[in-house]
Amino acid sequence: MRLLVCGGAGFIGSNFVRQRLASTDDELVVLDKLTYAGRRESLRDVEENPRFSFVHAAIEDAAAVARAIAGVGAVVNFAAETHVDRSIAEPDAFVRTHSLGTYVLLEAARAHGVRYLQVSTDEVYGSIEEGSFSESSPLEPSSPYSATKAGADLLVASYHRTFGLETLIARGSNNYGPYQYPEKLIPLIVLNALHGDRLPVYGDGRNVRNWLFVEDFASAISRVLEHGVAGEIYNVGGPDEVDNLTVVQRIVELCGADQSLIEFVTDRPGHDRRYSLGSEKARALGWSAGTRFEQGIERTVAWYRDNAWWWEPIRSGAYREYYERQYGRALAD
Ligand code: NAD
Ligand code: DAU
Repeated sequence: MRLLVCGGAGFIGSNFVRQRLASTDDELVVLDKLTYAGRRESLRDVEENPRFSFVHAAIEDAAAVARAIAGVGAVVNFAAETHVDRSIAEPDAFVRTHSLGTYVLLEAARAHGVRYLQVSTDEVYGSIEEGSFSESSPLEPSSPYSATKAGADLLVASYHRTFGLETLIARGSNNYGPYQYPEKLIPLIVLNALHGDRLPVYGDGRNVRNWLFVEDFASAISRVLEHGVAGEIYNVGGPDEVDNLTVVQRIVELCGADQSLIEFVTDRPGHDRRYSLGSEKARALGWSAGTRFEQGIERTVAWYRDNAWWWEPIRSGAYREYYERQYGRALAD
């Protein structure tokens, strides 16, 4: 099959591309705008593969999408603005990419009669104190990020009901692993700990996330793409729920850093307390989250330790300005 993978130069997309090329005979066309979070370097080891090609374009660019979709059997859409803190500071790009971009892709998929998988998030359900969300839980997003992702999901569902387009939605919990941009908690803490920098923890550090190793999310997306029922939503949750402070303390140990680097800083506005997904539907397709948190975090820390070539250019570039804006005052002496 020929697949159009939108957002394939990002964290999860690049892991999916690598896994999919290794485990199938598919031809993959990656279409990516290469925002600050999209990096060709993340695809370095597949660039020479004859079944891989790259289109530099935004998903809102209808002409580029129309050219890229010709001849493909399915579209998988990872393309998104993905950082909650940035969506609070500057929601603009979130609205454009998630609303207009998803619409453009859906129209193209409809015109070509192509199966469409939207990669979504547990954040569309909002926060849950006890128990787990199912696919029919109400959508109660807290941030501009999750609200625009929820809007995109509703648009996708409407294309199934109204036009009969074969759509699928896979809602993942918090991913971690190689190639994640260091604005997100785990890579930010790993790199700061390796450099002896302070480690910002929002609020009391007791917010809980349902951690999912990225390769397990990538394999779930393949399962849903191949075996999912058109029109359905599939939750994909990790095997472990861990609070942020415990995550940070474990990373500090693995990096051989000092726990005194941990600093509690002002909380994120609208900060969801806990996420938890029930993934029975995904498991019924034959998927399981194989990687426990302890194993995954050890692999992740080792990967960042061994792959400075990937993150050094990020830490010395525009990321510095972002970091100063986001943490400068909170971490000032
Ligand atoms: P990421 O920020 O690492 O990558 C996003 C990719 O999309 C980048 O390559 C970027 O260049 C590209 N992109 C952004 N806007 C674009 C546009 N307008 N047109 C084309 N390309 C564009 O994100 P990620 O963590 O890999 O997330 C991928 C998807 O998975 C997103 O849809 C996200 O909502 C979802 N998701 C992420 C997580 C997580 O924990 N990271 C969990 C569940 C779901
Ligand atoms: O749940 C899935 C979502 O997970 C995805 O849809 C998002 O794209 C992805 O960014 C992620 O969202 P979170 O907001 O949960 O991830 P983040 O890494 O930003 O934060 C994880 C937790 O750590 C959260 O409770 C906030 C906290 N945090 C984060 C940062 C960046 C800190 O305490 N300090 C920090 O510096």
